[in-house]
Amino acid sequence: MKKISKIKYKKNKSKIICLTAYSKNIASIIDKHCDIILVGDSLGSVLYNFSSTKKVTLDMMIEHSKSVRMGVKKAMMVVDMPHNTYRNSKEALRNAKKIISKTKCDAVKVEGGKKVCQIIKTLIRNKIPVMGHLGVLPQSAKNFKFKGKDLNERKIILKDSKLLTEAGAFSIVLECIESSLAKEITKTINIPTIGIGGSVYCDGQVLVTDDLIGLNKINARFVKRYSNIEKQINDAVLKFKKDVIKSKFPTKKHSY
Ligand code: KIV
Ligand code: NA
Repeated sequence: MKKISKIKYKKNKSKIICLTAYSKNIASIIDKHCDIILVGDSLGSVLYNFSSTKKVTLDMMIEHSKSVRMGVKKAMMVVDMPHNTYRNSKEALRNAKKIISKTKCDAVKVEGGKKVCQIIKTLIRNKIPVMGHLGVLPQSAKNFKFKGKDLNERKIILKDSKLLTEAGAFSIVLECIESSLAKEITKTINIPTIGIGGSVYCDGQVLVTDDLIGLNKINARFVKRYSNIEKQINDAVLKFKKDVIKSKFPTKKHSY
């Protein structure tokens, strides 16, 4: 089982690179560059057009993760536990064990603070590494407004980050939180923070790969599009279509 050495990353200030994958082919491309590959339940919105991640099921996560597993050789592989699969410790343990045994992933991720601490402790007691997730929590959020403007909200998130650390999480995703709060949390806790809309102060960064390569067109402030894969696919398909129409493909070389 691959482990992220939290001390090493924290001390050396070497940034943790994390990206999502939902299938083998993408996973195998990004594997050599990533420390962590996350099978995110964002696949619900990115691949299935769900209005939220709430409808993503355990079986969907497991099937996608099995595919991803085949592409991941080097990175640590983390799988999101979907909504309503960790409402109590017993349910969480049963489902996390199922995810680990069926997908051979290295760890699971759960959303929330104080509410999930007991669950995290139970999983860790059973040797299942857990990643936390604070800030905007898509499985329960009513909106996607960034967190940490309000003083009380800041206190709660900071406290939650300490509780998750004490519970034994090996790292925490900070989604859409105000920059100075991300800085404070990162300074305070001794496990790595991984930001998505979490500012440059986090110990690592995560993005949805489909957003990064321009395959999924969302306009979120935290997304930077590094490529336009949609255009490249479009151009390739167009060339294929023209060739077929003009009988330029298949040639003898491609025939039997
Ligand atoms: O589901 C997901 O892709 C995530 C990351 C954005 C952190 O949870
Ligand atoms: Na997620």
